[in-house]
Amino acid sequence: MLGLRMKKGLVLDNVVLLGRTLEEYRRYFALDLNSWRGRRVLDVASGVSSFCAEANAAGWDVTALDPIYELSPEMVEPRCEKDLDLVIDRLPGTTVYNWEFYQSPERLRGFRERAYRTFLADYRTATPERYVSGSLPRLPFVSGAFDLSLVSYLLLVYQKQLDYSFHKQSILELMRVTRGEARLYPVVTFEAERSEYLARFDADPELTQFSFDEVPTDFEFLLGSNRYLRIRHR
Ligand SMILES: C[S@@+](CC[C@H](N)C(=O)[O-])C[C@H]1O[C@@H](n2cnc3c(N)ncnc32)[C@H](O)[C@@H]1O
Repeated sequence: MLGLRMKKGLVLDNVVLLGRTLEEYRRYFALDLNSWRGRRVLDVASGVSSFCAEANAAGWDVTALDPIYELSPEMVEPRCEKDLDLVIDRLPGTTVYNWEFYQSPERLRGFRERAYRTFLADYRTATPERYVSGSLPRLPFVSGAFDLSLVSYLLLVYQKQLDYSFHKQSILELMRVTRGEARLYPVVTFEAERSEYLARFDADPELTQFSFDEVPTDFEFLLGSNRYLRIRHR
C-alpha cells in the first residue's frame, strides 16, 4: 500500500485500501437507487468501501468481493487509517483534481473515514456470503449470477500496475458472472490521462461479444473522471 507523489498526480505502485461511500458510488456510476433494488449487484474490489453496507441497509442485494476479506476486521482496521494518511498527505501540490464536490482534503478525509468505519461495522456482523474473498481475474461465482457488476478504482486507473492481459481476463470473467451489465470507474489513470486500454478493448477480437460505451456523469474529482465505462453483452 504505497503512494508516491509526482509533479502532476499521485503515483501508486500498489493498490491502496481506500473506501468510498454509497453517495460517491451513486455519483460515479450514475446509479438510480430505485431501479437496481431487488436485483443482484456485485461490487468487485470493494475493499473498505461502505457501498455494500449502505446499499444492503437500503434494501439492495449487494455482494462485495475483495482479497482483503480473507483478513479479520482487526487486521483490516489499522491499514485503513494508514493508507488514508498516505494519500491525504500527498494531495497538496497535485493538479489533477477538481475540488468542486469535496472542497478540501479534510472534507474528503471525512468521506473516506465514514466509508471505512461503516464498512468495518458491517463486516464485523454481516453473513459471510456478503463479503467474499477473491481476486480478479477469477471470480468465485456461477455464470450469470449478477444483474449489475461494479468496479470502482481498480481497473483502468491502475493501468501502470495491472497489464492489458489482466484487464482482458478480468472483463471476460466479470461478464461471465454478469447477466446484465458491468460498469468500471473511472476511465482515466491517476495522472488523469484516459486509459490506453479503452481503445484496445474495442479492437480486441476476443472481446467482440461485448459492447463498450463511455457514459457521461455529472461527477468529477480526478480530472476526466466524469464518465464510467459500461460493458454489455451484444
Ligand atoms: C482503491 S481500493 C477501491 C475500493 C472501492 N472499490 C472503492 O472505490 O472505494 C482498491 C481495492 O482493490 C482491491 N484489489 C487489489 N487487487 C485486486 C484484485 N486482483 N481483484 C479484486 N480486488 C483487488 C484492494 O484490496 C482494494 O480494496
